[in-house]
Amino acid sequence: MNNRNSEMQEIAHKHIPGGAHTYSRGDDQYPSNAPKVLVRGKGCHVWDVDGNKFLDYGMALRSVTLGYSNDRVNQAAFREIEFGNNLTRPSETEVMAAKELCELIPWCEMVKFAKNGSTVTSAAAKLARAFTGRKLIARCAEQPFFSFDDWFIGDTAVKSGVPEDIQKLTLQFHFNDLPSVQKMFDAHPNEIACLILEPATSVEPAQGFLQGVIDIAHKNGAIVILDEMISGFRWHTQGACKYYGVTPDLVTFGKGMGNGFSVAALAGRRDIMELGGIHHSSERVFLISTTHGAEMCGLGALREILKIYQETNVCGHLWNFGNKFLTGMNNVAKEFQLENNIIFEGTAVSPQFTCKDPSGAISLPLRTLFIQEMVKQGVLMPWLAFSTAHTDAELEITLGAARKALHVCSQALNGKMENFLQGPAIKPVFRKFN
Ligand SMILES: Cc1ncc(COP(=O)(O)O)c(C=O)c1O
Repeated sequence: MNNRNSEMQEIAHKHIPGGAHTYSRGDDQYPSNAPKVLVRGKGCHVWDVDGNKFLDYGMALRSVTLGYSNDRVNQAAFREIEFGNNLTRPSETEVMAAKELCELIPWCEMVKFAKNGSTVTSAAAKLARAFTGRKLIARCAEQPFFSFDDWFIGDTAVKSGVPEDIQKLTLQFHFNDLPSVQKMFDAHPNEIACLILEPATSVEPAQGFLQGVIDIAHKNGAIVILDEMISGFRWHTQGACKYYGVTPDLVTFGKGMGNGFSVAALAGRRDIMELGGIHHSSERVFLISTTHGAEMCGLGALREILKIYQETNVCGHLWNFGNKFLTGMNNVAKEFQLENNIIFEGTAVSPQFTCKDPSGAISLPLRTLFIQEMVKQGVLMPWLAFSTAHTDAELEITLGAARKALHVCSQALNGKMENFLQGPAIKPVFRKFN
């Protein structure tokens, strides 16, 4: 690794706790040869501070679906910057963005924009508590992240700083396990305000599961929040709710909605959302109120993104690429008899890769080695996020890189892993101590 990367890494840790503003961007999430600090992205490529170019499968934490620095989106954002970017009263841009989103997605009767996903999922939980007059929040146990706020982080291994009283207010249920949902309601009658879950991840919902959750919740007077931070603008233009044919009470979007711009949204049923308004006589709910929540460059970008999604088959491309990717990568794994060790699996539009040692246990050292060897081939693959800039040509390059990486993985599995790893293994984000 060249000098500028190391220099910048040192500066980052001197001035930023964790060296980055997102834990999943941190050094402990990457092999030691990964680029430390990036300068720019275009299409599906990123460049580091030493000028090295990588084919990227991280896509800014899955927030970029149309490729980095999309010209149409950029032009739309530039126009809004020229118009002042943030004005004294609501901007025409924010009003039109709200109208256009609600017209596109039928269960979005009203919307509140924000800059980050955590803001909108936390607002959804607060709104559900206000609407139901109940205090408990139930979250899906298998899904890794909903918010950096206390209601969620207090229910993980990294709960330091969250009062115990708050920790106790979050319950868990299991994905694709309706009895676990029913059991939770039986144990806490009339206490659960809402359930929050992603409609799908790399694991798809079983037939009837999502509707079953909605039915059980409604029967028990609770609200269902479907968090479409990752699935929105990826599974379908109208989100995974459309793809799986369910109607949420509240829905949250972010990531792909802004193609890298900071845009998130809480949307849903008018009777619930209206509680945050000023035209009712019930007790007021201080919903989302931020200086920059409707920043015009982000919402201008969103308006253009909505057009692009309606004019072109963005999600079709992502599914198609994902299917070819899964077939191609699993075939390469088979070439090296690694099909039980490095497994590319799950929902084709947003799959995952799982690394297992010869005993079948999940192996972070093997995962680290695979990513390390892909980096050596110029491919940055911390997880699998696709964009419309990923085409057959990129897939061919990726398969070539994987052949070399998996050759090394196969040697390591037949020898000593430590001899192949250049640095420490990746660690889980949710751990109590460093
Ligand atoms: C499912 C889900 N919900 C919420 C969030 C929080 O979004 P943000 O990082 O924009 O605050 C994330 C971010 O990774 C997410 O994946």
